[in-house]
Amino acid sequence: MDLFDDLKPIKQEIINDVYLLQGFALGASERLLLIALQAVIINAPLCNMMTKMGFAMSAAMTNCGDLGWISDRKGYRYDGHNPLTNQPWPDMPASFLQLATSAAAECGYVNFVPDACLINQYIVGASMGLHQDKNEQDFSQPIVSVSLGIPATFQFGGLKRSDKTLKIPVNHGDVVVWGGEARLKFHAVMPLKANHHKALGDYRYNLTFRKAG
Ligand code: SIN
Ligand code: FE2
Repeated sequence: MDLFDDLKPIKQEIINDVYLLQGFALGASERLLLIALQAVIINAPLCNMMTKMGFAMSAAMTNCGDLGWISDRKGYRYDGHNPLTNQPWPDMPASFLQLATSAAAECGYVNFVPDACLINQYIVGASMGLHQDKNEQDFSQPIVSVSLGIPATFQFGGLKRSDKTLKIPVNHGDVVVWGGEARLKFHAVMPLKANHHKALGDYRYNLTFRKAG
């Protein structure tokens, strides 16, 4: 038995083309990742964007990378500028890019180079309704979703909104990667239960990496 077997991240294919990499974002680079997250949020503050219907989203959001995902009364889209500041989004930190490309490669997506990273911050009770990620140009590219802070339950469904969903518990450091036949499947985040994380307080953060343009 390899002495370090226990330290290898556990990769599970939960559904066809949906992988859970438990603890993949932990370890030596975790500190760099959290410092980089803090720097991005200082440069591009989190805000609760409006949906087309005029409701504020319960997760607060910001972005880094060439493109940022935004929502307002005109709908959902990607934009190179932060609507709050009219500045370009902060550069994607090297630690973010490295994590996203290595997680994708671990699941067989070897050419993934994200140009967008959406950062969601959830307070207790916040959630994300069932939706598909479909504002991107190239659906052959996967989605890499990194969970940080307090735990959540991610739900993964099918290609129809009414398809039944599977619950996937996600903890600090877990990475979910989906692509291929799962790329356009509906997914959601259930309302967060009260909890506390030693580094990130009473919040959950999610980094969603995408090749948008
Ligand atoms: C999303 O699907 O946009 C967010 C997923 C998450 O926060 O885990
Ligand atoms: Fe999504």
